Amino acid sequence: MTPAPPDRRDSDRTFYDRIADAYDWLADANERPARRAGVKLLGPKSGEAVLELGFGTGNEVLELAGLVGAGGRVAGIDVSPGMLAVAQRKVAANPPAAKVDLSVCDARELAFPPASFDAAYTSFTLELFAAADIPVVLAGVRRVLKPGGRLGVVSMATPNPGQPDTFLEKTYVWMHRHFPHIVDCRPIDVRGVVEAAGFAVSAVEEMTIWTMPVRAVVGVNLG
Ligand SMILES: C[S@@+](CC[C@H](N)C(=O)[O-])C[C@H]1O[C@@H](n2cnc3c(N)ncnc32)[C@H](O)[C@@H]1O
Repeated sequence: MTPAPPDRRDSDRTFYDRIADAYDWLADANERPARRAGVKLLGPKSGEAVLELGFGTGNEVLELAGLVGAGGRVAGIDVSPGMLAVAQRKVAANPPAAKVDLSVCDARELAFPPASFDAAYTSFTLELFAAADIPVVLAGVRRVLKPGGRLGVVSMATPNPGQPDTFLEKTYVWMHRHFPHIVDCRPIDVRGVVEAAGFAVSAVEEMTIWTMPVRAVVGVNLG
């Protein structure tokens, strides 16, 4: 049996602090279409309150803020102060009409009052968590979402039944198992974890990045 990975909170923070200034250069071009597709599938509406988990360099904070508009608000949490600094610089350079509040927080310990948000969004972050922590993160999201609130997740994904494992997907899984300090993420059953957390899946979009399956899933909090 594969041993459970250690709690990587401190190493995640250090890792993302170290790469924060280079992150867009490393990942933005490849991941932007999937992130944008996920936001579109989630469909934030004017005036809504939206939470982003693991906002990274803040690209989708600005996207979400533009969609919810002047009467809306976006709260974002990320474990990395370095990422927070990059995201805050972007928001300051392009101040949106919506209220934006970004903070350092672990996604497993959301400190917002219950039912504070209409929607929550997260991209390329859920697949970083140990299997045992994913339900913890999603239970926290359910708690802070209003009944009927939506969760949008974009993540590296395990292949659907009948879909072959790609070489890249197998490499990620192997590297994550043997060298989790180098490859911090691995494909997950995105739909399965969202459903297991008690959300009713309302939309799914399949994508690929360099042949790697990527899935956007929207789940509704049935309350
Ligand atoms: C791969 S990056 C993705 C960033 C952004 N969502 C995007 O799609 O570009 C993962 C982000 O999750 C954050 N993160 C990692 N562990 C976290 C945790 N336990 N709680 C909150 N954020 C975390 C990292 O600091 C990083 O900004």
